Amino acid sequence: MTVESTLLIVKPDGVRRGLVGEILRRAESKGLRIAEMRLTTIDRELAQEHYGEHRDKAFFAELVDFITSGPVVVARLEGENAIDVWRTLMGPTDPRGAPPGTIRGDLGLVITENIVHGSDSPESAERELKLFFGS
Ligand code: RTP
Ligand code: MG
Repeated sequence: MTVESTLLIVKPDGVRRGLVGEILRRAESKGLRIAEMRLTTIDRELAQEHYGEHRDKAFFAELVDFITSGPVVVARLEGENAIDVWRTLMGPTDPRGAPPGTIRGDLGLVITENIVHGSDSPESAERELKLFFGS
């Protein structure tokens, strides 16, 4: 058994489009448990810290502008292999090529507005959960 925790974010486009329920339904239907959750607006400092690995990329400014553009839902998801399982439900980064059946494949159109975030490794999950939930 590898029970893991991961960070789910419903990004500002997902909240604006009224997709919070749909996204949480998919996570819960899969068997992942919502252990903590809140609606919040990410400030620029937190956005830059959260996406620190992308600081030098050409899309960084756009990424920070977007993730701070409105309320988001942040949640701690728990379950067996939660990190990989949640990434699989989300689908690949670019919705254009994301398979139907995934959140990004079914609901997204362009890479900037790809609806959801999920931690990409145990190290990222630990770091990100500390940032948003303190532990
Ligand atoms: P996320 O961190 O948001 O869950 O997304 P991800 O792991 O699938 O993708 P990542 O490589 O971490 O990139 C973070 C976000 O940056 C935007 N991006 N834009 N224009 C581009 O080429 C480009 N590449 C990445 C995406 O919105 C991605 O979610
Ligand atoms: Mg990422």
